[in-house]
Amino acid sequence: MAAWGVAGLLTVAGVAATTAMAVPAGPKALRPIPRIVGGAAVQPGTFPFMAALQQWQGNGYMTICGGTLIAPDEVLTAAHCVDQWAVGQKTTGGRPRERVIVGRTVLSASDGSVRLPEAIRLDPTWDSATEAGDAAVVRLDAPVAGVPTPTLPASDNRAYEQPGSAALTVGWGSTRPQGPTDVGAGVYPDELRQVSLPVVGDGPCQGVFDGVHNPTLYPKVMLCAGGDGHHDACTGDSGGPLLTASAAGRWELIGVTSWGNGCAVPGTPGVFTRLSAPDIHDFVATAGGGVAFGP
Ligand code: ARG
Repeated sequence: MAAWGVAGLLTVAGVAATTAMAVPAGPKALRPIPRIVGGAAVQPGTFPFMAALQQWQGNGYMTICGGTLIAPDEVLTAAHCVDQWAVGQKTTGGRPRERVIVGRTVLSASDGSVRLPEAIRLDPTWDSATEAGDAAVVRLDAPVAGVPTPTLPASDNRAYEQPGSAALTVGWGSTRPQGPTDVGAGVYPDELRQVSLPVVGDGPCQGVFDGVHNPTLYPKVMLCAGGDGHHDACTGDSGGPLLTASAAGRWELIGVTSWGNGCAVPGTPGVFTRLSAPDIHDFVATAGGGVAFGP
């Protein structure tokens, strides 16, 4: 576990070092510390807790969202990813309609653990109109053993989300930048991708969305990152993690990919569910047994 923690830290640092150079300088708060629009492919094994949420689409399972294993049988994701899910749903052909894969990097490969949802808990404050409380915990039908899970911030601890600090988001979402009104098809990768984004302060982020976008930002329960116009999460990345290095040398899970206004639009950060927010924290602590918080 110690070796894994160190590798994790090196990955954060490595990404920052290779990509900072390629990006034009911008205002300090919005400057990408490195470089999944604008990201890089993930080496298998880097994020062993990463989950793919899949739905049967008639001719195969499609990855609709990401998620994070936060305890051996609990996956944290976005409420909007699973608010149409139900336990035990079958297709007409008798297949499970929904499933979760943990520990696979290349979707077309067959490694990792395939699980079915056994319980789906949406944050009770989840509001699809405003995207507030966009968190859900999916209990798996069997644990995934031996995976080092990230820690989550203690309630109200914002030490891991200082404006300008680097965070990493990961997913199989679209790699194509798109404007707020661009409804063109996304480009979906087979390989998991990562991108590093600077945390954006609540004031500047609220300034971006106020009057421009409905829902407006609710900084109490939302966290912004990115905005350089080159690097962002995008459609299909929802539910996936926003990570940083914890004081204990583990991954710290600070956010859940939630929403945006287009993807990689200059000046427009991506928005993540804020896991340090007391309401969100309490929901995760209650819904997910065995979740590690702190330090
Ligand atoms: N709501 C999107 C999803 O369902 C995630 C959007 C994130 N967008 C962004 N520009 N950061 O996948």
